[in-house]
Amino acid sequence: MKVLIIFYTKHGNTQKVAELIADGINSVEGNETEVVNVKDFDLNEIKTYDLILIGSPNHGGRHTKSIKKFISNLSSISVKVNSFAVFDTYMKSDFEKAVKKMEKQIIENLPNSTMALPGLSIKVGGMKGPIVEEVLSKCKEYGIKLAKKR
Ligand SMILES: Cc1cc2nc3c(=O)[nH]c(=O)nc-3n(C[C@H](O)[C@H](O)[C@H](O)COP(=O)(O)O)c2cc1C
Repeated sequence: MKVLIIFYTKHGNTQKVAELIADGINSVEGNETEVVNVKDFDLNEIKTYDLILIGSPNHGGRHTKSIKKFISNLSSISVKVNSFAVFDTYMKSDFEKAVKKMEKQIIENLPNSTMALPGLSIKVGGMKGPIVEEVLSKCKEYGIKLAKKR
């Protein structure tokens, strides 16, 4: 399957999660992954992917404006999104907060799409990270799980 992973990052941690998920997906034969910063993505190119993953750091309890805008745009262009999954990075006790909001927004915008897996929420040690050691392995595992579902 062809997978697109879109992320926003301020300090690099969400990008690292995106890359580790991609490693997991690519480790299963027959998969191809593109990892793209949301600011560099041309929405007109999106048509050819089987699965879209969208990742954001938690900013103020939710996904960032740029990711929110990307998700809104997905519904206004002629693109068929069959399958999606989301991931976030957070500090303290905000486990899954941004993930749940992204999922809700995608389901509202694209009611015919399917959630490939419930979102992945990855804890960082501080504003600038790093990713908490104990959850680092979950990123690649999540990619493998996604790839094996197909
Ligand atoms: C403006 C701003 C607001 C933030 N608000 C929250 C928050 O409400 N809850 C939380 O858990 N983390 C919050 N954080 C911490 C980010 O989640 C953390 O910096 C991020 O996961 C690091 O990812 P990145 O390296 O990809 O930018 C905030 C960070 C910034 C910069």
